[in-house]
Amino acid sequence: MEGVENILSIKNIEVRYHEVILVLKGVSIDVPKGGIVALLGANGAGKSTTLKAVSGLLKTEDGEVTDGGIEFEGKFIHNLPAYDIARMGIVQVIEGRKVFEHLTVEENLKVGAHLRKTGTVKEKLELVYHYFPRLREKRNEIAGFVSGGEQQMTVVGRALMTEPKLVLLDEPSMGLAPMLIHEIFNIITRLNSEEKISILLVEQNAKLALNVAPYAYVMETGRIVMDDTSEKLLQNQDIKDFYLGLTDKGGRKSFRDVKHYKRRKRWLT
Ligand SMILES: Nc1ncnc2c1ncn2[C@@H]1O[C@H](COP(=O)(O)OP(=O)(O)OP(=O)(O)O)[C@@H](O)[C@H]1O
Ligand SMILES: [Mg+2]
Repeated sequence: MEGVENILSIKNIEVRYHEVILVLKGVSIDVPKGGIVALLGANGAGKSTTLKAVSGLLKTEDGEVTDGGIEFEGKFIHNLPAYDIARMGIVQVIEGRKVFEHLTVEENLKVGAHLRKTGTVKEKLELVYHYFPRLREKRNEIAGFVSGGEQQMTVVGRALMTEPKLVLLDEPSMGLAPMLIHEIFNIITRLNSEEKISILLVEQNAKLALNVAPYAYVMETGRIVMDDTSEKLLQNQDIKDFYLGLTDKGGRKSFRDVKHYKRRKRWLT
């Protein structure tokens, strides 16, 4: 994406866990300022690892960026502690909607408030309730007892409380009913267009992701094997076979098995 200012630029990174387990190999991803970019890939491809490399959460799992670099607003951040990265305006919504189950919905939201740069906690809560009216209704309920969709809204709302510039969203649709997925993705799209929040979205639901994000990357066993506009990817036969036609296949095959194609070595181009 030439001529576009990127808020995030992942440059040819290699990531290892416990010094020896090589999980990401030469991954490069750009997120334009104010844009939404999707990262698709099957189980275990390395999607969550990519997000954790950006947010710095990798370090809590004894993971490390051992080559390449990650640039956020022109500054290299891959060696910074997670807290510093968070203060710069990056927030990760981790997989599996992890709410603090014993706290109320509103207390969960307030957890994100200390990272905000402007306004009062009350103003930030109002902003969250503006986008998630359901959370206002549920604000005094114990988070562990609200529905899965409301928990997912709570964790996205908590991220919004931090006043982020970039949200890293890990599988927000997972395990949710279609109606709720639709509702949550609508809100995510609005957060992008109205609040100007840039988004890197990890999704296994390719149809959904390609509808929301104008540009996407496909990851397979720790490498980016394809990246293009969503319009082009939706036409791509490999994508159709592997990601858009799952129902009659009896499960996921390896993307590589569908058809072999040239792996783009992005760092050489
Ligand atoms: N803390 C860890 N220590 C060692 N290996 C790990 C760790 N976390 C993940 N891995 C390995 O790294 C690879 C990528 O995992 P990751 O969770 O990033 O994949 P993913 O694309 O998010 O998968 P999923 O779709 O299942 O969420 C997997 O082989 C996984 O076993
Ligand atoms: Mg994952």
